[in-house]
Amino acid sequence: MVEADTTLAQVLRSNLMLTGTKIGCNEGQCGACSVLIDGKVVRSCAMKMRRIKDGATITTIEGIGTPEDLHPLQVAWIVHGGAQCGFCTPGFIVSAKGLLDSNPSPSREDVRNWFSRHRNACRCTGYKQLVDATLDAAKVLRGEMSIEQLQFMIPEDGRIWGTKYPRPSALAKVTGTCDYGADLGLQLPEDTLQLALVQAEVSHAHIKSIDTAEAGLMPGVYKILAHKDIKGKNRITGLITFPTNKGDGWDRPILCDEKVFQFGDAIEIHPGPPNVYFKQRVAKGEETEPLFAAAG
Ligand code: FES
Ligand code: FES
Repeated sequence: MVEADTTLAQVLRSNLMLTGTKIGCNEGQCGACSVLIDGKVVRSCAMKMRRIKDGATITTIEGIGTPEDLHPLQVAWIVHGGAQCGFCTPGFIVSAKGLLDSNPSPSREDVRNWFSRHRNACRCTGYKQLVDATLDAAKVLRGEMSIEQLQFMIPEDGRIWGTKYPRPSALAKVTGTCDYGADLGLQLPEDTLQLALVQAEVSHAHIKSIDTAEAGLMPGVYKILAHKDIKGKNRITGLITFPTNKGDGWDRPILCDEKVFQFGDAIEIHPGPPNVYFKQRVAKGEETEPLFAAAG
């Protein structure tokens, strides 16, 4: 049982631990969370459970291929260098599967339009590799190219330098088995403390004092960490600095002490139980409550 307002992405990742489906924007804009529902590409972060019909078939990256049994799309993504940071990769591959299932012979233009229509966004590759990979996988699926012809082969002279030797992390990225920060977070015990950052909301300021009284009253806050709690030197860059830096290189703090340098600079850290920060997000309208009813 899950709440009707829970998104499919939350259920897949948190209830079912199918963390191959990634959440990037959580607003239906990036395609990282794409899955197939009855063969149709859907952004699961924007799909509430109440809209999913009983008995619907949901295909995630885990259902497309495994490290031991790769789908041609996954092989092609590896060979073409389509998985760089790899965060967009599961969503792209699921989306490409939806395309090839409905159109086995797409043109380059068809592939580009499909990814555009389904909002699949990639910040690393420049997209050409992803379109090439989809077209090559289509050739394999049509029987015009063998999977062996597609796969990377080390040249006879054993040279790797200057070849398209796949990056070692590609296998995990194309199969959704590569764990990013949020995936590792889901594997922590339920009562693991979470950190809330207090960040500057102005672009420049001199700090006269820091008042932690209100934060200290919040139930469950375990500790309040500010610059005075940093052991050693409260500075980031030190001797590694740009030649254009007019200071001595020790100007940027880890937690702000005398000055705010830019919007978002960290000022305090509050470790507390997950619920405290979850309730804050609910209050700000960034989360709906409750996340889950009892799983069943
Ligand atoms: S995470 Fe769903 S579209 Fe970006
Ligand atoms: S590979 Fe990094 S966003 Fe696409």
